[in-house]
Amino acid sequence: MKPNVLSKMGQRTALPPISWLMQTALTRHKLISLAAGFTDNAALPVEISRKLLNEILRSPKTGQPALQYGITAGENNLRTLTAKHLQKLDGGHDRAHSPGRVLITGGSQQLLYMTLEALCDEGDIILVEDPTYFVFLSILQSRGIKARGVKLERDGIDLAHLENVLERLKNSGELRRVKALYLVTYFQNPTGVTTALAKKSAALKLLKKFERAASHPIYLLEDAAYRELRFDHGKDVPTALTLPGAAERVIYTGTYSKPYAPGARVGFGILPEPIFTTVQRIKGNHDFGTANLLQQLLACALETGLYDKHVAKVRKNYAHKARVMKLALAKHFPPSVEIWESGGGLYFWARLPKGISTGANSKVFQSALKNDVLYVSGELCYADDPSRAKPDNEMRISFGSASEENIRKGIARLGKVLRKFLI
Ligand SMILES: Cc1ncc(COP(=O)(O)O)c(C=O)c1O
Repeated sequence: MKPNVLSKMGQRTALPPISWLMQTALTRHKLISLAAGFTDNAALPVEISRKLLNEILRSPKTGQPALQYGITAGENNLRTLTAKHLQKLDGGHDRAHSPGRVLITGGSQQLLYMTLEALCDEGDIILVEDPTYFVFLSILQSRGIKARGVKLERDGIDLAHLENVLERLKNSGELRRVKALYLVTYFQNPTGVTTALAKKSAALKLLKKFERAASHPIYLLEDAAYRELRFDHGKDVPTALTLPGAAERVIYTGTYSKPYAPGARVGFGILPEPIFTTVQRIKGNHDFGTANLLQQLLACALETGLYDKHVAKVRKNYAHKARVMKLALAKHFPPSVEIWESGGGLYFWARLPKGISTGANSKVFQSALKNDVLYVSGELCYADDPSRAKPDNEMRISFGSASEENIRKGIARLGKVLRKFLI
């Protein structure tokens, strides 16, 4: 065999679909991308950020620390403000929201990656929603971690199926390899589903029940990336951090990317021990701290209340764009396509009749590209789980970055493509 200079991981790592999607969206100018989860350009906080950065850089006394390296776990001020912010969102609950457990990261993506580094060896297993956030699946693929899917219902995972999957893994002797259940709990990427608190609670109890057979903790990894993008009038659902036992078993990840600015790319997490210390050490090796200037920008936005004002504006904006997309879908998509609508986030989920593939090599996808419109193939969001075939008749459609006009045009183009293949 030809010797290979690359590590096993290097050899294993496939091109992440996210890189191709972003590249295509940014370089094909006639293309309307309803694919990548970019946020709305027009709603980015340019003026607020200019004002705050001017404030930070107005004198050497405030400017120098912002332009210097900082602390690995994050700026203490931002850690405290983040803990308070989460506590407020969770209705004043303080069970697990201590600033000492907050870690600031270069986006929540970095935290998800480091959490997997801390928890998993090659061959370990993470349970995921079926379907789930496809970039998370790319990390698992790259690191040789297996994923097992848990069916998703309109209010979160199917608990009977979760129990069934855990039972099966126990019987096959694989429970020792199970380290966590990963849930994207608010306006999920890709389906828009929000997990009910009762389901988080029941899932946490089920994981606990199987811990003895696993002979180690099994964590609930709660990814709340879209939490602040609620635009319906429903009430916010508390996080799993508010549940009994959460301080030992819930790993919570969140981000300022979606509500504020992905270009500032500040994420955060609340982690239990021994995960907190381990991930902090790993971060020490990755980059020994998130960019200070960006952390200070977020801290100032939170402190001055400009962050909350901005988020309120962003929510209204997405409510409007979601309405525009909903109307366009009703007008242009064939009635045989089932649409999942969400009360927040950036996505609609569309299910075509069985047998009509939406995958990257499918006629639908190729025809959409030819017509200058891009979506995310649903099959990318399903784990390589040998216990079931991957559904390939779905698509994720985002109203995040496209303008109102392009949402209408893009959905009309996509509808025209679908009508060629469907009645
Ligand atoms: C579900 C989910 N989690 C995490 C992330 C990572 O976001 P960031 O690294 O910008 O915080 C994303 C980005 O799209 C996402 O969709």
